[in-house]
Amino acid sequence: MPLDTSSLPKVELHAHLSGSISRDCLHAIWEQRRSAQPHFALQDPLDAIPPGKVDYDLKTFFPLFSSYIYELCSDIPSIKYSTLSVLESFRLDCVVHLELRTTPRAIPDQGVSRSAYVEAVLDCIQEHNARPGNAMRSNLILSVDRRNSAAEAEDVVDLAIAYKSRGVVGVDLCGDPAKGNVRIFSKAFARAKDAGLKLTVHFAEAPASSTDEELWTLLNWQPDRIGHVIHVKEELRKEIVKQKIGVELCISCNVHAKMITGSFQDHHFGWWRGSGVGVALSTDDVGVFCSPLSAEYAIAIEHFNLNNREVKELCTGVIDIIFADEEEKERLRRLYDSWDGW
Ligand code: IMP
Ligand code: ZN
Repeated sequence: MPLDTSSLPKVELHAHLSGSISRDCLHAIWEQRRSAQPHFALQDPLDAIPPGKVDYDLKTFFPLFSSYIYELCSDIPSIKYSTLSVLESFRLDCVVHLELRTTPRAIPDQGVSRSAYVEAVLDCIQEHNARPGNAMRSNLILSVDRRNSAAEAEDVVDLAIAYKSRGVVGVDLCGDPAKGNVRIFSKAFARAKDAGLKLTVHFAEAPASSTDEELWTLLNWQPDRIGHVIHVKEELRKEIVKQKIGVELCISCNVHAKMITGSFQDHHFGWWRGSGVGVALSTDDVGVFCSPLSAEYAIAIEHFNLNNREVKELCTGVIDIIFADEEEKERLRRLYDSWDGW
């Protein structure tokens, strides 16, 4: 019998909050907003992001946020509603440890500051973690967008430090790989590391963001994990293995967005799985690419012929690269040891 990935306890380490909101949740928010404000003119999400459409590429993907999802989720009630919906979707998919990430977003016409945005998301995480019977533990990573200025990146780091005691565990670098110069963020990321925050960065996602200069700059930051890791030469791969940097791989996202050549079986998961570093299968944006983490594990099992022992090794390897303390790591190890689906 094939392993049931929907009941397999799973660890999700690379999920963007706004990209993880389901179409149904966006539609519910749209209906609420339209009934509260009769002049609310935004298009229905079911038309703007049609159900079943997953062929977004790097050109069509980023405007989805700036010109649509951010317009819809633009007040505290919609941010809280969508955050709780995202958390609950991961829990229902048997995710037992979630590191959600989001870009602090000010919404001046609603009087929402970046810190109020972060607090709203943390309130939801806190409430969700405390729900009786919930086996999923979530924490938060704050993202710097590549379009940010150096000063804006410093602000994100300030927020991450300020909210560390409330569950912010790290800082991420994300956004359109065709934009920005990562060097301007070196100081901000160094300060985050000095403050005891973990670092994860989107790495070699597209040819434009895979120059030697950019990738060595990012490796010099000594990130704890890197995401996507697509256009990486042998020399850099060796360095990543040497530094034992965990990799966050997003198979469906990379295939649907045509970020790799070929299909599932051609994904570089095939290279990294035997490399000795922790490999975290991840959804990236389940609201856009519609492949929950259980489906990502099923894809890996099917296309790379993983047996149960290999799946268990993959899962326990992820524990080593989570941004959490030993107690949480022990809890997860116990969950895998006691799972009766092996
Ligand atoms: P948010 O940070 O919760 O608002 O989530 C949406 C943001 O995540 C987008 O505006 C992008 O900056 C970022 N993002 C989502 N998916 C990707 C990706 O695959 N690569 C780089 N950035 C991404
Ligand atoms: Zn991402």
